[in-house]
Amino acid sequence: MIAGIGAAVPAGIMTNADFERTLDTSDQWIVERTGIRERHIAGPTETLLSFTLVAARLAMERAGVTAADLDGIVFATVTPDRRLPSAACDLQAQLGATRAWAFDVVAACPGWLFGLSIAEGLMRAGLGDTILVIGAEKLSSITDYEDRSTAILFGDGAGAAILTRAKGDGRGMLASYMGSDGTLAPLLYIPGAGSAEPLTDQVLRDKKHLVKMAGREVFKAAVLAMSRATDEAIGRAGLPPEAIDLLIPHQANLRIIEATAKHAGISMDKVMVNLDRYGNTSSASIPLALQQAEAEGRLKPGMVAMLVSFGAGFTWASVVVRW
Ligand code: ACO
Repeated sequence: MIAGIGAAVPAGIMTNADFERTLDTSDQWIVERTGIRERHIAGPTETLLSFTLVAARLAMERAGVTAADLDGIVFATVTPDRRLPSAACDLQAQLGATRAWAFDVVAACPGWLFGLSIAEGLMRAGLGDTILVIGAEKLSSITDYEDRSTAILFGDGAGAAILTRAKGDGRGMLASYMGSDGTLAPLLYIPGAGSAEPLTDQVLRDKKHLVKMAGREVFKAAVLAMSRATDEAIGRAGLPPEAIDLLIPHQANLRIIEATAKHAGISMDKVMVNLDRYGNTSSASIPLALQQAEAEGRLKPGMVAMLVSFGAGFTWASVVVRW
């Protein structure tokens, strides 16, 4: 079960008006086509770990556990501070979680949901009782701020949860599902700066180290993936849609969220939306929304939440939890 959740974002905010000054775009277009109004962006000296540490410590405090209690750390991110070692190992060192094993998960936006399912499986395999699951991104580091079709979408942030064994009171993870389709990779990817085409001046000039996206195609694939993931979650949990108290979808685009809710037969008053303030924070998106839902009293013990996400890969995932 999720025993505690924490979230943190860098203090700096970029509003739609800020983009109006540098790009051929408008607040009206961005709000109408995406639902986003502002996003948090890390400053030049802020690392991914700097705000992830805050989120991790908040989750640990909420769960009443210390670094010494952690058996493992699963860190979902596509924007680690450096290539080697993992962000999870850097976090383990900073926390002083000396007993914990640590590794990263690369599954783009549903990464945190992949992480939850992996952690639950490792727990079942006897590899830990208390696992820290992180979803955190500094997407500003891979965003092309001259490309109006992607620049306006992304934000930075971190979410963290402490996963512990269920207590047998019905609370905990009721179902989980993950899927992937690598044939759709060219719709959303970073072409260079990997081992196939290492970083060179030419790669930098060609901006091959930054995200490329075919927005309209991603939009269509996302609606299909999200719909499939909600169907699977509801089916695997053995629950009717009306049993879902709160839908927490990946915060990429309000129109994708609305289409997903409609497909699942869930009214928008039962859907958590906070992309207006954070934009798309990839793997941090669901834990950020989950933390806010709990803080606002929209998610109380015993309630059922369906978490559903999609992203580059393509990857998609869903988890149903009784809070
Ligand atoms: N401001 C003004 N005009 C813009 C902007 C902008 N910021 N961006 C694109 N346009 C223009 C386009 O150039 C195009 O102009 P044209 O008709 O003259 O060619 C027009 O708006 C329509 O473009 P579309 O791409 O069809 O616009 P659409 O309504 O599809 O919205 C958007 C674009 C917001 C990117 C949408 O496709 C989308 O949200 N796609 C999914 C993106 C997504 O979720 N990605 C992340 C998933 S994975 C992850 O989370 C990492």
